[in-house]
Amino acid sequence: MTNHDSSPTRLRRAPVVQIYDVRDTMVILAPDGEVRELSGLSAELARAVLQCCLTPCTRAQIVTRLELLTGGPIEEQELGVIDQLLAVLVAAKVLVPTSEQPAPAPSRPRTRLVLCLSGAIACSLAPGLIQRLLERGFEVRVVATEAALRFVQPEALEALVHFPVLSSLWPEDSGLPVPHINLAQWADAVLVWPATATTISRLATGYHSTLVSAIALCTRAPVVLVPSMNADMYSEPAVARNLQQLAADGMHVVHPGSGTELAHAPDTRLATLGPTPPHAVVVALLETALRIERARRADGQPATPRDADEWDRLFRTHQDHELGWHRDALDADMLAVLERAASPGTSVLDIGTGLGVAAIAAARLGCRVVATDIADTALLRARDRAGDSTGDTGIVWLRDDIADTRLYGTFDLLIDRGCLHLLSPEQLQPYAKAVARLTAPGGALLVKTHALSEGRSRGTTPWDRGMIEDLLGAAFTLETDEGSTLPGPAVTTAARLFVLRRRDPA
Ligand SMILES: Cc1cc2nc3c(=O)[nH]c(=O)nc-3n(C[C@H](O)[C@H](O)[C@H](O)COP(=O)(O)O)c2cc1C
Repeated sequence: MTNHDSSPTRLRRAPVVQIYDVRDTMVILAPDGEVRELSGLSAELARAVLQCCLTPCTRAQIVTRLELLTGGPIEEQELGVIDQLLAVLVAAKVLVPTSEQPAPAPSRPRTRLVLCLSGAIACSLAPGLIQRLLERGFEVRVVATEAALRFVQPEALEALVHFPVLSSLWPEDSGLPVPHINLAQWADAVLVWPATATTISRLATGYHSTLVSAIALCTRAPVVLVPSMNADMYSEPAVARNLQQLAADGMHVVHPGSGTELAHAPDTRLATLGPTPPHAVVVALLETALRIERARRADGQPATPRDADEWDRLFRTHQDHELGWHRDALDADMLAVLERAASPGTSVLDIGTGLGVAAIAAARLGCRVVATDIADTALLRARDRAGDSTGDTGIVWLRDDIADTRLYGTFDLLIDRGCLHLLSPEQLQPYAKAVARLTAPGGALLVKTHALSEGRSRGTTPWDRGMIEDLLGAAFTLETDEGSTLPGPAVTTAARLFVLRRRDPA
C-alpha cells in the first residue's frame, strides 16, 4: 500500500449538497453559483470520495479507502488527480472540514407547544413549520379547526409529531380528559398559526366554540398569534380592532410579512402585506416571546414549584442560569465536607439532585452515587451534564421523592443541598424517617438550607440549629452548624450548613 502523507484535516460530506448526475456526468453547483461538470472517471472517483466522506476522513484515510475499493495501490500520479478532485469538492462546499461542521445542538429542556391551526391557506405549509419546531427542541401537539383540515391532511402532521391531530372539543372516549383543558394545562406555550380573521375574532370576543379558540383562551401559558390573510382582510377595521384587543389581553401578536396574493390567478399575483412570515421568523419570534414572558412572569426568579409536575415544568422551561439556586460547581464548604467524608467506594445519596452538581462532585471522588429528584427532566439534564449517556460515571439517576421514598438499603453519606427547606410541614416527619433509615450507622447527613435571616421571601422555610435538632435529633447527632451561603447564578443567599452523624440504632 502506498505511503500517503497524513494531513490532519478531516473532511466530511456537507449535509446539503447541490449535485445531480446525468449520463456519465456529475454537475456540481457551488453556493456562489459556479457550476462544475465532472465526467467519466472523474465523476466516478467523485462519487467514491463522497461515499468515503459520509464519515469524517483525512486525505490519507480517503486514499486508503479508495485503495480498498479499487483493490490495488494508488500510484503517485493518481494522487495528484485525487488532490485536484478534493480541491474542487472543498471549493464547492460539497466536502467540509469537520471543524466547520455545526456543533450538535445542546440538549435543552423541551418546551411543550400546542400548535393551533386555523383555516388559512398557510396551513398547507404546516409540515415545514412543525419540522422546524421539532428541530428547535419543541415537543409539539397539533390541534386544528375544521377549516384548517381542508388545507392540510392530519395524517401528514401526525406522522411528524406522532400524536393525533385533535379538532373536536369532545374527547374521543368519555373516559378521557376533555382536550381543551388537558392541552391548555399541558402547554408551556401556544402558537396560533396561521390565525384566520375568523379565529382572531373568536379569540377577541371570548368565543370558545372551537378547540383552537378554547385552548388559546383558557391556557395560562404564553400565546403567540400569527395572523395570516390577504391584505384587504388584514386592513379591515374589525380585524385591526380584534388584533389590538388580543395584544391588550396579553397575546403576542406577530406582524405579517409580504407575499403574493393567492386569491388572484397565478400570473396576475401582486405583492401584498398579510401572509405569515417564513418559518424561521415565526420560530424566532416564538422563542423571543417565551424568553421575555418567562423573565416577566418570574421577575428574574422562577416561583417555587409546589409539586413534581411543577418542578418538571420548571426544569423544562428554564435554562441553567435561570434557576436561582443553581451553580455549576458544588459550594466550596460542601465540597470540603464531601472530600473529608468520602473516599473511593463511599456510597453517597444526593437528595434532590437538580442538575446533578453534588452527585457529579461525589462521583469524581470515586464514590458510588445514587442521585434522586422528583423531576424527570432534572434527572435527564443532570445525566447529560455528567456526560453520562452510557452510564459510565457510575451515578444511578432515580426519580424519587424523599418524603415518600421508595429507596432501600443504606448510604455512608447523604447530601441535601436545598431540598429540606422546600418541604411542606406534612413532609417533614416522612423526610426525617427516610434520612434516618437511609443513613448507615456512623454515616453522615449533610444538609444546607436557607438561614433565618432570609425569612420566607424566597419561597422556602429557613432552618436553624434548634429546628434541625428537633426534627433529626432522635436519630442523628448534630456535629457542626455553620453559617454559609447558597450561591446562585445571580444572587447569593444566606444559608446554614449542618453536618449530622447517624447514631447507632439502639
Ligand atoms: C382557498 C381559501 C383560502 C383561505 N385563506 C384564508 C387566509 O389565508 N386567511 C384567512 O383569514 N381566511 C382564509 N380563508 C377563509 C377561512 O377559511 C374562513 O374564514 C374559515 O371560516 C376560517 O375558519 P377557522 O378560523 O375556524 O379556521 C380562506 C378560504 C378559502 C376557501
